[in-house]
Amino acid sequence: MSGAEEAPAAPQQQQQPDEPPPAAGDAPREGAAEEEKPPACRALVLTGYGGYDKVKLQVRAQSRPPLRPGEVLVRVKACGLNFAELLGRQGLYELLPPPPIIMGMEGAGVIEAVGEGVEDKKVGDRVIVLSRSGMWQEVTVVSANRTFPMPEEMSFEEGAALPINYLTAHMMLFEMANVRPGKSVLIHMAAGGVGIAATQLCQTVQDVTVFGTASASKHETIAQGGVTHPIDYRTKDYVEEIRKISPKGVDIVLDPLGGSDTQKGFSLLKPLGTLIVFGVANCVTGQKKNLLAMAKTWYNQLSLTAMKLMQANKAICGFHLGYINDEELISRTMVKLLELYKQGKIKPRIDSRYHFEEVADAMKRMHERQNIGKIILLPEAKKVEEKPKSSPEPAENVEKTEADVNEKKEEATEEVTAEKN
Ligand SMILES: NC(=O)c1ccc[n+]([C@@H]2O[C@H](COP(=O)([O-])OP(=O)(O)OC[C@H]3O[C@@H](n4cnc5c(N)ncnc54)[C@H](OP(=O)(O)O)[C@@H]3O)[C@@H](O)[C@H]2O)c1
Repeated sequence: MSGAEEAPAAPQQQQQPDEPPPAAGDAPREGAAEEEKPPACRALVLTGYGGYDKVKLQVRAQSRPPLRPGEVLVRVKACGLNFAELLGRQGLYELLPPPPIIMGMEGAGVIEAVGEGVEDKKVGDRVIVLSRSGMWQEVTVVSANRTFPMPEEMSFEEGAALPINYLTAHMMLFEMANVRPGKSVLIHMAAGGVGIAATQLCQTVQDVTVFGTASASKHETIAQGGVTHPIDYRTKDYVEEIRKISPKGVDIVLDPLGGSDTQKGFSLLKPLGTLIVFGVANCVTGQKKNLLAMAKTWYNQLSLTAMKLMQANKAICGFHLGYINDEELISRTMVKLLELYKQGKIKPRIDSRYHFEEVADAMKRMHERQNIGKIILLPEAKKVEEKPKSSPEPAENVEKTEADVNEKKEEATEEVTAEKN
């Protein structure tokens, strides 16, 4: 890991005879050429539902089937970790195909090959990639229309941090809630990836008041980032705190929590206000699935009739980026976001970076609510000298460098358990 405070966990290595699962860049296809010796490819694979140990680093020779029309091959330089992947690991994310599956929904890298019919992208282009899964690997194949050219000044880490958080925040604020000058917005998880994106986007509209809930240690940072009223939801009743400042409540609530918080959000809305439900973080209490928390969230969810809604003069919306299949809408919004980035109006905040070997630490950081901004995963093998000298791990547990991997590329699949001891 680089950029975060904790010492990384050294991986355990074990021989694994299993083939890694098929993934975008890896699926054998008819007519695949076999003449070239395939390069090694590192991938983070969800091998089953459960705790951190279910995500394993696998290294194996990668086949390079011919690209289908409209596809591009991307060498991934950085990928984003999303809350959805914590849900996915616990079997709670319905859009993730069942394990074994390579996770990862966003990343940034360089195009290495283009398929037939791809006119607007070429080899060498630096691109942001949005995908349903399969981004947590060194090389991936994706549809060209899910790649977006990166501004020159944007780093791969920023590129990987941008699409999901900012598309989500932008579509909710500007397409659904129609935020306008003078409005007030309650942003939960305000120090997280979506929270910081939403706060920055609120700054692009005049006079928007942002109430943001976050752990107390993050308040200074989010206040500097534009949250007008940071609220420690862990020690205070945020409804009371907001009412003290704004007795009438707020115009917009972005609710990624679910359960009783959706009810609170609805109660906080001013007349003609809008509540957008876009997550169920309350279902997650730790690394393993918690059925009680899920039941509680389900039981406490907001339920009301159309008649009651009419009498309340409020709007309730649901948002899920994964179910948006309108490519034009996605591209149009990405263009707007990249323009805002070039104008310096938005900038992804990178919380920390972890090499693939350290994926358990990365997930732990999010589960333990330590991140301020985006957690980035780096496909590149961690260099041995980056290892902290105090590491208690035995020498044989030190992961391989890329050179080692290349030397061994003819060997059987190797699997590295990326679980923290
Ligand atoms: N519908 C969609 O299309 C869509 C797209 C992207 C994200 N989302 C949702 O938006 C939310 C934020 O996602 P993100 O990827 O940006 O993650 P994130 O906000 O970076 O998530 C981690 C932070 O959330 C806070 N948190 C609140 N409840 C938590 C819990 N039960 N477990 C762990 N952390 C919790 C913690 O900070 P504090 O304690 O400081 O608050 C933690 O540091 C998630 O609910 C996610 O599912 C939905």
